[in-house]
Amino acid sequence: MRMVDLILKKRNGEHLTEEEIHYIIDGYTNKKIPDYQISSFLMAVYFQGMSEEEQLAFTNAMLNSGEKVDLSKIKGVTCDKHSTGGVGDKTSLVVIPLASACGVKMAKMSGRGLGHTGGTLDKLESIPGFKIELSADEFFDQVNAIGLSIIGQTANIAPADKLLYALRDVTGTIESIPLIASSIMSKKIASCADTIVLDVKVGEGAFMKDLKSAETLAKAMVKIGTLAKRKTVATLTDMSEPLGDAVGNAVEIREAIETLKGNGPKDFTELCISFVKEILVLCGICKNDSEAEKMTLEAINNRSGLEKFRQMVKWQHGDERVCDDYELLHISKVTKPVIYHGEPKYVEKLNALDIGEAAMLLGAGRETKEESIDLSVGIVLNKKVGDLVKDNDVLATLYTNNKNIDLAKEKVIEAYKFSEQKVERINKILEIVR
Ligand code: URA
Repeated sequence: MRMVDLILKKRNGEHLTEEEIHYIIDGYTNKKIPDYQISSFLMAVYFQGMSEEEQLAFTNAMLNSGEKVDLSKIKGVTCDKHSTGGVGDKTSLVVIPLASACGVKMAKMSGRGLGHTGGTLDKLESIPGFKIELSADEFFDQVNAIGLSIIGQTANIAPADKLLYALRDVTGTIESIPLIASSIMSKKIASCADTIVLDVKVGEGAFMKDLKSAETLAKAMVKIGTLAKRKTVATLTDMSEPLGDAVGNAVEIREAIETLKGNGPKDFTELCISFVKEILVLCGICKNDSEAEKMTLEAINNRSGLEKFRQMVKWQHGDERVCDDYELLHISKVTKPVIYHGEPKYVEKLNALDIGEAAMLLGAGRETKEESIDLSVGIVLNKKVGDLVKDNDVLATLYTNNKNIDLAKEKVIEAYKFSEQKVERINKILEIVR
């Protein structure tokens, strides 16, 4: 087999066989095929796409390039939840404890934030002492004992994807749906949970800017998951405005805990409930949606979800008193309001990307993987799409350590667009692909 023939085959719109795809991935991982040929191949895929069979073969080749996490040591039905990333996306911090309180084993390996989107691991590290690095055995023991754990990726999962992603990043081939779908699913399938719940974000603050491409991505991922014999569901959710009110790290932990207590922002709470319901039905804990809704609401009302969160924090060496005393989260004490001046109007748009960038300016996010971040800073949105604003109302509150305050304020102001007409609030759940 010669790589140049496979490039030509793909360039001409033909389908590659499983054997050919394995040849490409193995050759690249073993450094037998150079970057320039893989770059050319990726561009051919970008323009010609891949069939379902090719996507599955591509996913399998990447997941077989590394280790798998053997979750068979965990008793009961396991579930993994994955989000494509957004601004203010703290969903895992609420969904995982609630689903665990309802009897699902939630074993989650998470990532750090990059660019304007935050990462669950960074958020968790704003809890004093919280350890995101556990050995595989500690991880399994914890999930068996208390039903949940969120850790950083320990095993060497899908190294081929890591190499390809870095190459795609510099060759203009990131935005290819078959490549994104197989990249995400190779890591999910290697993590070996019985069920996979995907949150595909759509809008300004997300990877997928429009509903049609998000839908194609969601369908591709569900297909790959199903062919790999994992029960998979994807929900398309809005990311045109930030999710919930808090954007940052410690401020998002505070909001997640409040949500587990039943006091969270409405949009965020509804989205979390929807995910838990999906998980409970998918995992066979509940027969239908209404049974699942009842169970989920009960886990909020009787605070069993909050107790699961508390147990997780304690098991992972964090200070579980943060659940009752937010002072321990060390949220910055320096706050600056962003004030609205003008005639009464409704918030028509609140650009998630601008808010994510404003939070980065304050120090809450990182531009490169190596940068450190300030966990104590962030933004709390006092007004969101659909809200009425009057002269001198606070639009948002910046929690700062005096870094880039004016620039961040400007960005926040830029994010808001107003209308004299009444504006509907945004429904966060756009579609569910099963
Ligand atoms: N996230 C991934 O893991 N891979 C992609 O290709 C895009 C987003």
